[in-house]
Amino acid sequence: MISPFHYRADELHCEELSLSSIAEEVGTPCYVYSQSAIEAAVTAYQAALQGLRYRICYSVKANSSLGILRVLVARGLGADIVSLGELRRWQAAGGDPRKVVFSGVGKTREEIDAALMADIFLFNVESEEELAVIAEVARTRGVRARVALRVNPDVDPQTHPYISTGLKQNKFGISMPTARRLFESAAKHPSLEILGIDCHIGSQLTKTSPFTDAVARLVAMVLDLERAGIRLRTLDLGGGLGIDYGKGDAVPPSPGEYGLAIKEALAPLAHLDMEILCEPGRSIVGPAGVLLTRVLYRKASEAKHFLIVDAAMNDLMRPALYNSYHPMQAVRDPARTAITTDVVGPICETGDFLARERNLPVLDAGELLCVGAAGAYGSSMSSNYNTRPRGAEVLVHGDKHAVIRRRETLEQLMANEQVAEL
Ligand code: LLP
Repeated sequence: MISPFHYRADELHCEELSLSSIAEEVGTPCYVYSQSAIEAAVTAYQAALQGLRYRICYSVKANSSLGILRVLVARGLGADIVSLGELRRWQAAGGDPRKVVFSGVGKTREEIDAALMADIFLFNVESEEELAVIAEVARTRGVRARVALRVNPDVDPQTHPYISTGLKQNKFGISMPTARRLFESAAKHPSLEILGIDCHIGSQLTKTSPFTDAVARLVAMVLDLERAGIRLRTLDLGGGLGIDYGKGDAVPPSPGEYGLAIKEALAPLAHLDMEILCEPGRSIVGPAGVLLTRVLYRKASEAKHFLIVDAAMNDLMRPALYNSYHPMQAVRDPARTAITTDVVGPICETGDFLARERNLPVLDAGELLCVGAAGAYGSSMSSNYNTRPRGAEVLVHGDKHAVIRRRETLEQLMANEQVAEL
């Protein structure tokens, strides 16, 4: 597919709509998403996994806006959630709870109970204590909880340390020896139904080898359990496939390349006809979204040139948190003199930057800048720091568009507060 974000007569468009017209209508900062790009990513995954019995459980944390979830629900996807809030969002978007896997190291009793009552597909269990609590809640309710054990395969995903999860020093998953023991005991527990095995080794992976290394370890465990008379039905690969942020370094594998690699690694399990789950987030929505922001001021010091824009770290936290790189384009007339500049927001923190030392066309106050590859972990990680209302979100499909989230109001920001005279 040609990029959904492209210039037409020197005007950046999302599908058939000019980004300036969207900014005119809803104001800035705002997120704009291409529905066709999201759908194309889903199709790519489906084609890549063809031949396996699979279920794609979109990782809701990557972008949990209802309008985005709705697109994925309509394509028949399941969901990977990490809180009751995400389950409720999925349901509010029309999603089927029976296609939901519940991951995360700190599920509360209340969340476990609500998820059991919603009849979710399974819990990805992250510790022995959590397994005991799930069993206990299920017993109280008189039901059996379907569970998978999330193992920690101890492979290095070779990504940013904050988003590495599959190393033994990380807080995630259960060590392989402990998992082996828990599979044996859980298989006998009357309130538990052991469905499978799960892992998630990290995010923004740029090679297939960490995935295949992890799968090899899971495969060995599944075969070992089979010999012990425990037959697993699901194997969950987690998410983690990276996307191209346009920095010019290694381009991550496509879903097709990923699919080929994992199919090969899963081959020894063919006789078990397991259902293969995966939990992609970033690679489904990341490239499909941009953050539109307007230049407020320009400022030059002896050392630097700054572009002060109306989006900040509260809108897109990734650069501040991980020093991550997002591509940037002028919305109009891209072919003009460029200058090395820092793109910063209005927040009172030196860490409030969207780009550093970036070569960008010289923009004037009032002009629009498009921050690319912002569909994942953009709006879902946004906050109200500095009492900044979160921006609008717009979904585009062809020449149609809808505001899927209105800009927050200051009244909403203060709605739960009161002053107290003590
Ligand atoms: N499954 C589990 C259990 C996860 O923890 C995650 C992401 C995913 C699936 C989806 O991974 P993905 O396909 O999106 O890589 N905020 C960071 C990313 C944190 C990822 C956390 N877990 C960022 O902005 O880069």
